[in-house]
Amino acid sequence: MPARLACHCSRHELPFSTRRLLAICNLLLQRCGVADHSFDLLLTGDREIAELNGRYRNKAQPTNVLSFPLTDDEGDEMLAALPVKELGDIVISVETARREALLYGQPLRQRFTWLLVHGLLHLLGYDHERSSEEEARMEARERELLTTLNQQRNAAMTKLAINVDHVATIRQARGIAEPDPIAAAAICEMAGAAGIVVHLREDRRHIQDRDVRLLRQTIKTKLNLEMGANKEIIDIALEIRPDLITLVPEKREELTTEGGLDVVSQEKKIAKVIEKMAKRSIPVSLFLDPDPRQLAVARKIGATFVELHTGRYCDAIGEDKQQAEFALIAAAADEADGLGLRVCAGHGLSYHNTAPIAAIEAIEELSIGHAIISRAVFSGLDKAVRDMLAIIRQADLSF
Ligand code: PXP
Repeated sequence: MPARLACHCSRHELPFSTRRLLAICNLLLQRCGVADHSFDLLLTGDREIAELNGRYRNKAQPTNVLSFPLTDDEGDEMLAALPVKELGDIVISVETARREALLYGQPLRQRFTWLLVHGLLHLLGYDHERSSEEEARMEARERELLTTLNQQRNAAMTKLAINVDHVATIRQARGIAEPDPIAAAAICEMAGAAGIVVHLREDRRHIQDRDVRLLRQTIKTKLNLEMGANKEIIDIALEIRPDLITLVPEKREELTTEGGLDVVSQEKKIAKVIEKMAKRSIPVSLFLDPDPRQLAVARKIGATFVELHTGRYCDAIGEDKQQAEFALIAAAADEADGLGLRVCAGHGLSYHNTAPIAAIEAIEELSIGHAIISRAVFSGLDKAVRDMLAIIRQADLSF
């Protein structure tokens, strides 16, 4: 039975998306042998938890976690009659968790997960204050559960897909065969990229049909074909069958993709492309601004992924503006994840601004091109990819 979540703090302060958090709660219930039970998890700040702490424990000060077991030995007949077995409530102050994470030099996710596990074990009757044996028993159980969660987490690290369009841009500037984006893709994969992205534009300004065909045959990871919803390019995609297509708005006069796709005004047209691709088992990602209206339509017309446009965040000048753009992306990622969409992000990401985006729990893949190819000019492509991967990995581990 699913756990229930109430969040009285800002969503983007949470170390996990709400969907992931519920998945963690449910996994914990399963691992504790009480998958048919449920509990309520309330996420608050210090003021609210201090009030609860004062009311129920006579300690009117903030604390990290409170557990309120709900047992039927208090003679509550209603409780015994409930169809779902209720364990009670866990309250966590995200503010205190954040402070403690800093104090102990731990990532917030790690601190928060420990508090959750600790609170749940209290609901299940463990109590470290009862005796030293009980304390050791509870700690051992905590370690076991945290190891299980860590194993799952390692499998869900944010991936990096690399856009090699700009290698083709240099080639096209000379009109000869070098540098070859096919070779670039192979180097990116060897350095640890999880996918290769190319944008086959109508005007063929960089990537050519030959590149897409060869990449389809040579790359070992995932080929993501970025494209406008244009008949000629749709036919090529249906024939070549990339692992994923990403639909973007495409204007001939733009230097790069400038804004997200407006699926609200083009719902029917985009739905038709998704339908065509589905017939050939090609999943579709929609490149969207972080706008809940766009996400709702993406979900309605059957997109598998959304790629959130990070351009405005990357271009924002000043910390406040950047923070505001970041909050939109974090909220949209959570929203999309909650709708059951898989979430990627990209555009304008660099070695200086990628870490916070990589730390957003719901985002599973980043699509980065210009920054990596630019740095490769000076440091070599292999190193440029590995340096970006190190930033992503560090962000994943340290939030
Ligand atoms: N995602 C999409 C949909 C794009 O159009 C682009 C640019 O080609 C990128 C990601 C990569 O952007 P950048 O080259 O700025 O990293």
